[in-house]
Amino acid sequence: MDVYQAIQARREITKYKNTKVADDILTKVVDAGVYAPTGNNMPSKNLIVVKKRSTLDQLAETTPYMKWLKEAQAAIVVTGKPGVSKYWLQDASFACAYIWLEAVEVDLGSAFGAIYNAEDEEESVKRENYARNLLEIPEECRVVAALGLGYPNETPKPKKHVPREEVVFVEKFKSSRD
Ligand SMILES: Cc1cc2nc3c(=O)[nH]c(=O)nc-3n(C[C@H](O)[C@H](O)[C@H](O)COP(=O)(O)O)c2cc1C
Repeated sequence: MDVYQAIQARREITKYKNTKVADDILTKVVDAGVYAPTGNNMPSKNLIVVKKRSTLDQLAETTPYMKWLKEAQAAIVVTGKPGVSKYWLQDASFACAYIWLEAVEVDLGSAFGAIYNAEDEEESVKRENYARNLLEIPEECRVVAALGLGYPNETPKPKKHVPREEVVFVEKFKSSRD
């Protein structure tokens, strides 16, 4: 599978089979996050790999929108250090995207659970602190997201994309079409 195929095939998968993910497969997915680029090449991100059933079940309560972790075989929690780089959020987001695509390559399904919330600092801190306490994440780290992983137990309906011409412009915004 080439990268373009992985991009085309990627969907959010929230239902998983009760099949273990081998450590070498999980390591490949984690490495995709490790090797993702960072702004100014600064080491702002950390990845916490969670495999314990009881921890996954508790992590599922971080926000109302990641209940699928109760079925997932593993999770990768992605954090960023604002004190290390002004690009911490982009760095963490790149890592998440790479992880999601590598999951496709190794036939895993993945779902993205947003934890950091740029709009509501109080809610964000509440959610981040829940994960922070559970996983012993230091104060200097913001908790960006949790990705769930497992072998898919669903095939989503084909996705209706925003028409390409509404997204892509050439040379100038809205001035001409690709
Ligand atoms: C920034 C961002 C935040 C998201 N937050 C959540 C979330 O908290 N819970 C969830 O189940 N899915 C979340 N998603 C997944 C999207 O809902 C999903 O990717 C989108 O509906 C498109 O579906 P697709 O991934 O199958 O293309 C998030 C995705 C992104 C990029």
